[in-house]
Amino acid sequence: MAFANPSFLEIPESYLFATIAKKIAEERARVPDRAIIRMGIGDVTIPLPKACLDAMHAAVDEMGRAETFQGYPPYEGYAFLREAIAANDYRARGCDIAADEIYVSDGAKSDTANFTDLYGPENVIAISDPVYPVYLDSVRLAGFKASQIRFLPCTEAGGFLPEIPKETVDIVYLCSPNNPTGTAMNRAQLAAWVEYARNHGTLILFDAAYEAYVSTPDVPRSIYEIPGAREVAVEFRSFSKNAGFTGTRCSYTVVPKGLTARMKGGGTVDLGKLWLRRQATKFNGAPYIIQRGAAAVYTPEGQREVKERVAVYMGNAGRIRALFQSLGQKAFGGVDAPYVWVRVPDGFDSWGYFDHMLRTHGVAGTPGSGFGPCGEGWIRFTGFGNPADVDRLEGLIGR
Ligand code: MLT
Repeated sequence: MAFANPSFLEIPESYLFATIAKKIAEERARVPDRAIIRMGIGDVTIPLPKACLDAMHAAVDEMGRAETFQGYPPYEGYAFLREAIAANDYRARGCDIAADEIYVSDGAKSDTANFTDLYGPENVIAISDPVYPVYLDSVRLAGFKASQIRFLPCTEAGGFLPEIPKETVDIVYLCSPNNPTGTAMNRAQLAAWVEYARNHGTLILFDAAYEAYVSTPDVPRSIYEIPGAREVAVEFRSFSKNAGFTGTRCSYTVVPKGLTARMKGGGTVDLGKLWLRRQATKFNGAPYIIQRGAAAVYTPEGQREVKERVAVYMGNAGRIRALFQSLGQKAFGGVDAPYVWVRVPDGFDSWGYFDHMLRTHGVAGTPGSGFGPCGEGWIRFTGFGNPADVDRLEGLIGR
């Protein structure tokens, strides 16, 4: 009989958002005539931008004609999309990132998880607490022991920002604007991490999936806005949260040329080369139709439609924050991120309050403790729903 990967014993038996989906399904079965207000998983609700749909329809037609038909996509993504990303997301913002440093993929979730394939077994890895569970679960599945992981507590006292470690770590995951706490690092805070990484030879894995939600001028949308970041950082980006591609799947990872890792026997290796090698072995590229849709995000119409979506979701998030604050509960986030991080009332823990909100009001959030021990006593609500859901929430629990 085959042996299973024992690391599965090191992670929770069920993925956080799978557990929540199950609890919502149970509640729906218990009270079938009540529509659940879904503020748990950060899934978008506004349909795809028309600019993207038009581009995808045109691409569908191209796939039906012999002269424009496409087979396997390039492992690293089509040049038309990589060039649009480099020009609009980077050069237009003064960041020195070229098209051939961009690797298109099918999700920032899968990319952040798959990047663990590149790690040598001896690394010490720093991860925030609370954290998007994919980083920790995938590091554990890759075989890293608890003794190799350093947790960086993100508490209210510290503004929910991870404290820079005193010791040297080899790899650190950073997410800003942050999932789950909804806070974002300003330029000086991010620059301090880049300086730490440069001084300690640390690789920063920077998850910028929520960059479209940044409104504060001093909050960078890319780590490459910080001088010197090219030499220490990989950046993950997604079309899910800006253009609504959660069901359509498209993302990209930036691995700057010259970013290297040590080989145990001596010498260094280019991380971009390793990432492409990994992708070519295990991934056959994001579909042509989808990449055409993603490229349309950068047209004037696409940009206008993205801004409309962001405005709706941020409007929701601001109202959710204000609602809980009006009830006397502390609430953070919702300024540069679509997530609101709410203190649960006295007498509840995170899961207890989640259950209370679901069963009493039909409102699903995400318990803070699901993101790590420092999330205990908090619950996350997302602004990704419809404004009408926020109206209902206000009617249900508002004073
Ligand atoms: C979340 O709710 O944290 C996100 O939807 C997860 C994801 O983007 O995979």
